[in-house]
Order: sequence, then C-alpha cells, then structure tokens
Amino acid sequence: MHLLCAAAVTVIALAVPQAGGWTLGEDAATKKNPLPSDAKTLAAGKAIFNDKCQRCHGPGGLGDGPDADPDATDMDLTNAKRAARHDDGTVYYKVMHGRKRPKMPAFKDELNEEQIWTLVTYVQSLRKKP
Ligand code: HEC
Repeated sequence: MHLLCAAAVTVIALAVPQAGGWTLGEDAATKKNPLPSDAKTLAAGKAIFNDKCQRCHGPGGLGDGPDADPDATDMDLTNAKRAARHDDGTVYYKVMHGRKRPKMPAFKDELNEEQIWTLVTYVQSLRKKP
C-alpha cells in the first residue's frame, strides 16, 4: 500500500504540463514499455481499447467513434507521421493524464499501470508504417 502511494506521489510531482494541454512526465521520452508486443498483450490491449477508447477513436483507431470531438482534427491514431512524435512513454502519459481541449479524459483512476502499458502496446501496433 505504501509503495503504491509513493508511486502515485512521484507521478504527480514529475508531471509537466505541455503546450497543447497534455501533461507528460519528465521522463516521457525515455520511459520504457515493460511489455512485449506479442499476441497476448495485443489481444488484451484491443479488449481495453474497445471498452474505453473506441467510442472516440473508433474501432480501428481512425478517430471515427461516435463520441469523437468534432473540433479535434488530429484523432487518427493510425497516422504514421504521429508515431515518430509518440514514443511509448508519451502515449503512456497521454492516456494517464488526458487533456482538456479537445477533451480526452484522464484514465489514471480507471486503469492501472499495466493496463495502460497494454494499451500503449496496442495503440502503437495501429500506426501505419511510413
Ligand atoms: C472522449 C473522447 C476520447 C476518449 C474516450 C479517448 N480519447 Fe484519446 N484522444 C481524444 C482526443 C480529442 C485526442 C486528440 C487531441 C489532440 O488534438 O491532440 C486524443 C488523442 C489521443 C492520443 C494522442 C495522439 C496519438 O496519435 O498518439 C492517444 C495516444 C490517445 N488519444 C489514446 C487513447 C486511448 C488509449 C484511449 C482509451 C484509454 C483514449 N485515447 C480515449 C479523445 C478521446
């Protein structure tokens, strides 16, 4: 229990607001995904994505879900150009903290760390190759 509290405090202490409304950790560029991109992780990631993310990002991540923000022009997770800007640690923090406008909810109270990494692995598998 104490360990978990300490971890939560560390995350908050290192959170850095970004231009554009995202809040990333200081170590976003170097944070390593502990999970392998294997069939098991991808299947689990897809299940969480369908449950929590599909309503906005669409079933294939194209940004065409029913709750997609009409003001957001950049919700297509498959866009290859974005993969370069989104290493695993960046995606991790974006899912964790969300952003205000266009709105993406924060998932830190709904998903644990392993579930977020599972999603990161799945989202990265959706990127088209350049
Ligand atoms: C209420 C709608 C909504 C939900 C639900 C939502 N998102 Fe988003 N997401 C957005 C919006 C809007 C943006 C684009 C913001 C922008 O323009 O930068 C975004 C951007 C992102 C990005 C950054 C862009 C990129 O290419 O990497 C990632 C990653 C992402 N979402 C992943 C997820 C995941 C994973 C989930 C499920 C846990 C999720 N989102 C749920 C609305 C949503």
